[in-house]
Amino acid sequence: MEMMEDINTRSAVLQISGAVSWPGNCYWGPSAVRQVIEAAESRLRRPLVITDPGAWRASSAVVQAALAARSIQDWQVFEGVVANPSLAEVREALRMARHSGCVSIIAVGGGSVIDVAKVVFGCLCSGLEPEELAAPRGQAWLDGPVRPDAPLLLAIPTTSGTGSESSSAALIQGDDGRKHMYRSLRTRPALVALQPDLTLNLPMRPTAQGGFDALLHALGALVNTDCNPIGKAIALHALHACMQALPLVLEKPENLAARTEMQMGAYLAGVAIGISKVDAVHAMCTPLESVADMAHAEVLAPVFRVVSRYTVQTHASVYANTVRHLNIAGTGDDHRGAQALIERIEQLARQANLSLYLTNLQLSEQQAGQLATQAVQSASMPLNPRRLTHEEIKSLYLQMGN
Ligand SMILES: [Fe+2]
Repeated sequence: MEMMEDINTRSAVLQISGAVSWPGNCYWGPSAVRQVIEAAESRLRRPLVITDPGAWRASSAVVQAALAARSIQDWQVFEGVVANPSLAEVREALRMARHSGCVSIIAVGGGSVIDVAKVVFGCLCSGLEPEELAAPRGQAWLDGPVRPDAPLLLAIPTTSGTGSESSSAALIQGDDGRKHMYRSLRTRPALVALQPDLTLNLPMRPTAQGGFDALLHALGALVNTDCNPIGKAIALHALHACMQALPLVLEKPENLAARTEMQMGAYLAGVAIGISKVDAVHAMCTPLESVADMAHAEVLAPVFRVVSRYTVQTHASVYANTVRHLNIAGTGDDHRGAQALIERIEQLARQANLSLYLTNLQLSEQQAGQLATQAVQSASMPLNPRRLTHEEIKSLYLQMGN
């Protein structure tokens, strides 16, 4: 009965028309890299591989063999991507691409690598510089239509986390130190290879943090007020996969079946957020990452604790319905069900070695107010199940330490 009410409420706000822009073609399985390079055919011209030293060490043999099998010899490698990348890496990779006359890009790595590749690709295609791409003229190009004859961006993710391989977003630190979000369907990879064995040797820290990030992408896309039924369906499947695979991967990192499910869960969560966006948890996370020298998931965990607990005070049913879909708790009480979901996710955060308290950053009232001003500008903030005012967001920032 409660579920019916929820469905009816959602139907009432379901827009009469809608659209979905599917991500690029995806191949998965033990031969995915070879298949995706075959599928690229002649569009893969003079590629620049954008990667980082760790990802390239783990994957270069597979990528090189796939390129050799297609007799592609004219390619270059840029290995200079670092975590939380800035425009400096984008400029360096772009310089190399232009100098070498590269026409297509292969991103081999995690979210940082794919994000850098997206912005480099945008600059290559548009002829603009990275700082111009963030300006109105660049935004006009980013908002333009995807052309079938466009150069190719191919992604080979080696982590299971950000979903950058299937989302339209790229997060790059600007020259002012603030993270800038580039959103564009034109820079979303047109081809993706999910080859699970490439994630097998990923160290525990990025495995755990990436998995937790993917899980909160799926949850945010599922519980938010966006009404796209395709986004919701994908988000539910992604959440199910992440909740199931993450504890298994953390217990036994060499478990290929769990790695496979985690990789697909992260990919699908990326698809879901591309369609439905996320919620206040991610909206509040991005401004905080600009002032806290912490990894994305380390910020996500304490933000999740305060925001989800505050949101379910008034909007427990959507979380409770999620719990029922996931078969986590059979309770008929919305508040208890919502609580069970939050506690399960907090338990996964602890298993992922992520603190639920922001202990090493003391925010002043003024700082919290400034962060709230930035957070309200996020496209995901108005989609949070409980609408949050500037004052409420500021107060939630101040509660993260205790
Ligand atoms: Fe994220």
